[in-house]
Amino acid sequence: MALWGGRFSGQTQEEVKRYSESISFDKRLYRCDIAGSRAHVKMLAAQGIIPQSAADAIRAELLEIEKKIDDGNFRFDIALEDIHMHIESALIEKLGAEGARVHSGRSRNDQIALDIRLYLRGEADLLIGKIRIFQKALVDLGTRYPDLIMPGFTHLQHAQVVLFAHHLLAYVEMLDRDAERLADCRKRLNVMPLGSGALAGSTLPLDRDAVCRELGFDRVTRNSMDSVADRDFAVEFASALAVFGMHVSRLSEDLILWSSQEFDFIELDDAFCTGSSLMPQKKNPDVCELTRGKSARLCGDLMTLLTLCKGLPMTYNRDLQEDKVALFDAVDTAEAILAVYPPMIASLKPKAEKMAAAAFDPALMATDLAEKLVELGVPFRDAHRKVGSFVKYCREKGKRLDGTSLDEMRETIPEATAEFPGLFDPRASVAKRDLAGGTGFKQVAAQLDFWHKKLED
Ligand code: ARG
Repeated sequence: MALWGGRFSGQTQEEVKRYSESISFDKRLYRCDIAGSRAHVKMLAAQGIIPQSAADAIRAELLEIEKKIDDGNFRFDIALEDIHMHIESALIEKLGAEGARVHSGRSRNDQIALDIRLYLRGEADLLIGKIRIFQKALVDLGTRYPDLIMPGFTHLQHAQVVLFAHHLLAYVEMLDRDAERLADCRKRLNVMPLGSGALAGSTLPLDRDAVCRELGFDRVTRNSMDSVADRDFAVEFASALAVFGMHVSRLSEDLILWSSQEFDFIELDDAFCTGSSLMPQKKNPDVCELTRGKSARLCGDLMTLLTLCKGLPMTYNRDLQEDKVALFDAVDTAEAILAVYPPMIASLKPKAEKMAAAAFDPALMATDLAEKLVELGVPFRDAHRKVGSFVKYCREKGKRLDGTSLDEMRETIPEATAEFPGLFDPRASVAKRDLAGGTGFKQVAAQLDFWHKKLED
């Protein structure tokens, strides 16, 4: 008979057992569930709700169960529904009536709320650590090529010259916000729901604060109904991972473009690419493509959780069991990305000559000419128009922007001085962008330095 079977005379249909079980996926919560139960029974004994001897026996047996599961010696059975029932049944099987005291003053509704919070708290720390490693790989790559200039893009059109390191650091910034979002989410999820019971609290004299301290939470939850119904923290967590996925998807797209024959800016290491079963010459950027694909799953997991929770009446509803499917998928997907991306970045080789050659297009410095005119007192809109006419003139004549004489240039830009031809030097263009946040050599060197220091602590 199921642990809740007292009021039932009929048996659950076999198909329904398979339909309603969650042990196939929530077994990964066993350590959290055991930690929660150990803290709970310790408190129950301290409050005189159960005998100290029972608490001691339960606490010891919980460690035994944990070890059995660790070692793969624990039998899971869908008839026992979920991880809570499995562990409670194992206790009762071993300790009899003493074991049956564990669930005093507790419901699976506050128990699962506790388990997910403990799980996500650990995952937040883990993922943040892995995001730091990812950032470090990008910073290290940039540091190996501090002077490498490449075209920067807007609308996927060559726009202005930038440093390769500057481009990489843009992603370091994104990842930093991702880590911050997880840390922020961790703050809100680190509250202790046990003692909320099924929804209304408990008539037993539980000491919620003691359990809170024991499990390292910041405080106890304030409303028992909210405590068992709330999955905001799961939505926030999945949201942080969906944004992370969006960032790595963008990075992937950059790398896919850069490794194409058309760009030819980088060489991805063979270890992170695969070939074609048909076309012998192919080397495909699969890891990047798969990451772009996996980011779709992260978006989907977030949508699943939002859709799952919207429209649910107070308080706990069984729908919420499905939260773990999406949540675990999001965590696993993010971890998979974080396992493969940093080593791929570390082994990536930029093709310096190709990038520099693309950056040597004088058209990329057209803005520099307009800004030089501004320095000489020309209103920007006039300057823009004059340089635009110069670009048009060169196109019509089939010349590069740096292929005219100064006199020729003066036909469209009368203010042009002897300094102007020198403005087509991409290095000078980069060097001049010496504002905070700009791509200037000094600025980027300072940024690399900043990140090295930040990522070391
Ligand atoms: N397996 C359930 C879940 O994941 C645990 C809570 C079940 N509560 C209940 N009253 N059936 O949500």
